[in-house]
Amino acid sequence: METLLEVQEKITPMPRIGDSAPSFQAVTTQGMINFPDDYKGKWVILFSHPADFTPVCTSEFMTFAKLEDKFANTNCKLVGLSIDGLYSHIAWLRTIKDKIEFKGMKNMEVKFPLIEDITMEIAKKYGMIQPGESKTQAVRAVFFIDPHGIIRAVIYYPLSLGRNFDEIYRALIAMQTADEFSVATPADWQPGDDVIVPPAGSCGTAKERVESANGEMECADWFFCTRKLDKKKVLEAVLKN
Ligand code: BEZ
Repeated sequence: METLLEVQEKITPMPRIGDSAPSFQAVTTQGMINFPDDYKGKWVILFSHPADFTPVCTSEFMTFAKLEDKFANTNCKLVGLSIDGLYSHIAWLRTIKDKIEFKGMKNMEVKFPLIEDITMEIAKKYGMIQPGESKTQAVRAVFFIDPHGIIRAVIYYPLSLGRNFDEIYRALIAMQTADEFSVATPADWQPGDDVIVPPAGSCGTAKERVESANGEMECADWFFCTRKLDKKKVLEAVLKN
């Protein structure tokens, strides 16, 4: 006979790109939060880590703390989660500030909220517990949630692999650029690189596009059209200061 938890585990779908971010209330190191309502109008990176007082997680928290203002400048807030309790979170963050030095970072203060989730309720809602990897620790998930509370991208890493923060930042800027300029961004895109003009939706438009491609847009073929997008324009659109 299965327990209620086992049944729930089977029927709770993993949140997917395009879904509304599942809502919850939580205790955090910065007080109670109502998610995602408290973050309306802002992008949020909701990320999980396996456990407090572990080295890879420590290196990640120090890096997020260093980058917090850089993310805030793109209208993006950070929210962390692990299935540890509040007092463990507080003790760990104090230890990081007082004792840990990593890649030139020291006295790093984590000012963004870290959710306590000892019951794993939130981690399960977000598919952060992946039993093939661990039944008791959250994988390293990164949810990008837009100002309307919609999940726009998800990245998962295993327990042993620290995240790449350049990629997390690049993905955020790329999605904001796509929204702002109605374009798509090609492989390894960085602000200042050419962008992709979304493909034509019909044979007529496809032919027209290739024939009328002018200096603005370059089409190698009907499905592969790019255009310039000035770095300054991108940065003006996505950076607040
Ligand atoms: C770490 O953060 O160091 C870690 C956590 C769980 C498993 C392996 C490494």
